[in-house]
Amino acid sequence: MPVRILDPQCVAKTFPDYFETLFGVVRANVEDIPVITIDGPTASGKGTLTDEVAQALGYDVLDSGALYRVTGLAASRHHVDLADGEAVAALVPTLDLKFESGRVLLDEEDVSAELRQEATGLMASQVGAHPAVRRALHQLQLNFRRLPGLVADGRDMGTAIFPDAALKVFLTASAATRAERRHKQLISKGIPANIDSLRADLEARDARDKGRSASPLQAAADAIELDNSQQTIGESRDLVLSWWQERGPFKA
Ligand code: C5P
Repeated sequence: MPVRILDPQCVAKTFPDYFETLFGVVRANVEDIPVITIDGPTASGKGTLTDEVAQALGYDVLDSGALYRVTGLAASRHHVDLADGEAVAALVPTLDLKFESGRVLLDEEDVSAELRQEATGLMASQVGAHPAVRRALHQLQLNFRRLPGLVADGRDMGTAIFPDAALKVFLTASAATRAERRHKQLISKGIPANIDSLRADLEARDARDKGRSASPLQAAADAIELDNSQQTIGESRDLVLSWWQERGPFKA
């Protein structure tokens, strides 16, 4: 019988770590741990939507792109040829990776800012094209499925990694909208950017992600497609939460 806690903040004063403690001791069959997948092309707003939905539900986040990005970065730092899938895949089990509240540490160094750069995104899409690399990262992604639930963001979350997810969203936006958003995001961080070259880069990356034979970017057959070009993030979040409400254990 599912139990919903309507006011989780009520423990804030007397037992602030209540839920961390609770989910540290309870055990669940992995297939009973709820997963929402949010797949889609580059700069469609997946990361922001994923964070918002996870925050609203108190779930964990898997930013699978960060795993491909950090693999690309580590390979280039180790002078491994990004075209050599087996060599890049062999590096994966040796990586000293930590994920701490939105930051990624590689060999104890915070590489979060470097991971977000466009150049790292391109390296990610190169290494992500190799089946051996995708296999090497598979279990690492499954490990993120922990209580109380997970929102997973990527390209193949609903097709290859969590095919049993209870809700799958395929998020799109026009290329012009996506280039504009990425441009704003970079400028606001003080990173110089040109909108035309950004659009060309993201279209090139999408073409590679869609065209590869290993887990190409495509909507799962049972995914709901959401074009958020004309939506605010709050509108997209509320829509996804309403879909979740219809499917979850608390449907009216
Ligand atoms: O989502 P993000 O832009 O961080 O992803 C960077 C690149 O990593 C993508 O362009 C894609 O090639 C690759 N990727 C992938 N599968 C995922 C997530 C990312 O192939 N699940």
